[in-house]
Amino acid sequence: MTSMEASIGNESKVASIKTLADSAALTSVPSEYTYTKNPNDMGDANDPEHSIPIIDFALLTSAYPDQRAQMIQKLGRACQEWGFFQVINHGVPESLMEAMVDACQRFFELPEEEKKEFQTRNLLDPIKCGTSFNVAIDKVRLWRDYLKVIAHPEFNLLYKPAGYGEVSLEFSKRTRAVATEILSGISESLGLEADYIAKAMNWDRGLQILAANYYPACPQPDLAIGIPPHTDHGLVTLLIQNDMCGLEVKHNDKWVSVNSAPGSFIVNVGDQMQILTNDKYKSIWHRATVNNTATRISIAVPHGPALDTPTLPIPELLEKEGETAKYIGMTYEKFMELQASPAAYMVPCLDHLRVKDN
Ligand code: OGA
Ligand code: NI
Repeated sequence: MTSMEASIGNESKVASIKTLADSAALTSVPSEYTYTKNPNDMGDANDPEHSIPIIDFALLTSAYPDQRAQMIQKLGRACQEWGFFQVINHGVPESLMEAMVDACQRFFELPEEEKKEFQTRNLLDPIKCGTSFNVAIDKVRLWRDYLKVIAHPEFNLLYKPAGYGEVSLEFSKRTRAVATEILSGISESLGLEADYIAKAMNWDRGLQILAANYYPACPQPDLAIGIPPHTDHGLVTLLIQNDMCGLEVKHNDKWVSVNSAPGSFIVNVGDQMQILTNDKYKSIWHRATVNNTATRISIAVPHGPALDTPTLPIPELLEKEGETAKYIGMTYEKFMELQASPAAYMVPCLDHLRVKDN
C-alpha cells in the first residue's frame, strides 16, 4: 500500500481527486470510489440513430418568421422527445469558451493550499470548490473535483487564478444571453408569449451558476463514475467541455453518449421546466463517465428561477391540455436544498413534489 492509498482510508483527507489521480502509484480504483454500473446500463456509444437533436441558434433568432417558427417547432420536439439538444451558431466565440475551460483548469491545478479558502459546505455559498458531490452523504466517492461560482443575480469575482474573473464575467454574460433566447423559444414552443416563462420565473433575478467539473484520467474507468445519474434542478443547463467526451443521457431507456461539435453548447431541460410544463418537457437523467486517457473538463451552467420563486405547472397549459397539476409548488431555493439533502440522494427529487393520485 502506498502512502497515498493509506491516506485515502482516512476519509476526508483527500481534498481533491486530482491529488489522488496524480499519484504515480495509482493503478487501480480505491474501494471508496468503486462504482459498478449495472451491465444492462452500459452506454450505447456509437449508435448513429441516437444523437441528440441540433438546434441552430441563428435560425431560432432569425428575423424571418418562417425560419424562426420552424426552429421553435424543432426545439419543442427536442424538449419533449430528448430533453437534451446541441446548440450551434450561437455567436459566443469559441476562443471565449476555450479561455473559460482553460481558466477552470488552472484553478483546479492550483496547489491544494490555495483552494482551501473555498472549500465550504453551504449549498449557496457564492464561490465553493470541493471533490465528489457531498462527502458527508456520498456513499461512493465521485471521480471529480468541482468549482461552483454564482454569476447571477450577483456576479461573484473569483480572484485566482489570474484571468479567471475577467473571462468568467464575459462568459457568464454571453451564456446567459443564449439561455434567455432558448427560454423564449421554449415559451413560444408551448404556445405562450416569448417572455411568459421569464416573467413567471423572475428570470431577471434568476440564478446562474458556473459549475466546472474536473475528471482526471482514471486507471479503471469502468469501476468509477464522474457524476452518477441525476437530473438538473433548474430551467435550462448549458454545458461546454474540453476535447474529451463523457456525458451520457438516458433516452428511451438506453444510455446514449453525447458527442458535441467543438464550440457548441449542450443544453438540457431541468426539473423546474418539467414542473412548469406538467411533465411535457422532461428533465432527463444523465451521468458523466470517466476515461483512462486524459483529464476531461466540463462546465455546466445551470440557469434557474429567482431563488424565492415558487414553480408550479403553468395554468394556461393545464387548461389547454385539460390536465390537473401534477406538482405542488416549491420555491427554487427549497427545491435545491431538497435535492442536496440525503432524502434525495440518488432518487428523483421531483417525486417528492408529485401530487399523489387519489
Ligand atoms: C452536471 C453534469 C455532466 C458532464 O454538472 O450537472 O451533468 O458531462 N455534468 O460533466
Ligand atoms: Ni447534470
